[in-house]
Amino acid sequence: MTPPERVDLGDVVLERVRPAHAALVARAVAESLDHLRPFMPWAAPEATDPEFQRGRIETLQEQWSSGESYEYVLLDRAGARVLGSFGLMTRRGRGTLEIGYWVHAGEVGRGLATRAVAALTDAALRVRGVRKVLVYCDEANAASAAIPRKLGFTLVRVEEVAPSAPGETGRQLVWMRDRPVATDARGGHPQGTGQ
Ligand SMILES: CC(C)(COP(=O)(O)OP(=O)(O)OC[C@H]1O[C@@H](n2cnc3c(N)ncnc32)[C@H](O)[C@@H]1OP(=O)(O)O)[C@@H](O)C(=O)NCCC(=O)NCCS
Repeated sequence: MTPPERVDLGDVVLERVRPAHAALVARAVAESLDHLRPFMPWAAPEATDPEFQRGRIETLQEQWSSGESYEYVLLDRAGARVLGSFGLMTRRGRGTLEIGYWVHAGEVGRGLATRAVAALTDAALRVRGVRKVLVYCDEANAASAAIPRKLGFTLVRVEEVAPSAPGETGRQLVWMRDRPVATDARGGHPQGTGQ
């Protein structure tokens, strides 16, 4: 089983990214470049070009088909704006999916990343063979670390890596969750209690 192509979050929706989204993705990146640059190694002027995004997204279609990665855009209800981007990636090894994410500069602080990561964590844990969901973020990226922390992920280790973006220290926090987030919600433990 692969992850769903669409996850309805009510006022916003996660959709499998398609070449038709290229212009909207390029625009969201252009409007967010300064915000993305510290922690996103790819955040450079070329990423604001719709044709660049179209080529990238075409590669992502192949990766979805082969099961290598599953990339989504977070859209507003009308499908008119890209509010962020989220991906499930197999690159950390068998039995795991890693979640990566960014949110449009004008949409941060509304809980969008927390809601999308919660939904994708649960979707990932329903994929055949996946037992752990991982989030990797630099120690300096407090806004990013707040998300797995709030969702009850466990900080399993800190890895020393070469920094790949200007805001990074190279100390990479590795977060793991092996139970659905919805389990906690049903059990009466509000998100934010850590466990
Ligand atoms: C990280 C990012 C995706 C968060 O998106 P978001 O939609 O604003 O996230 P949320 O609103 O769900 O939650 C953010 C949390 O971080 C907290 N936060 C924000 N800035 C913070 C800071 N400087 N220090 C500590 N916590 C911070 C917020 O208070 C919030 O927690 P709260 O709900 O308990 O108050 C967004 O800031 C982003 O796109 N950053 C640039 C790209 C990036 O770093 N991606 C992750 C790479 S690992």
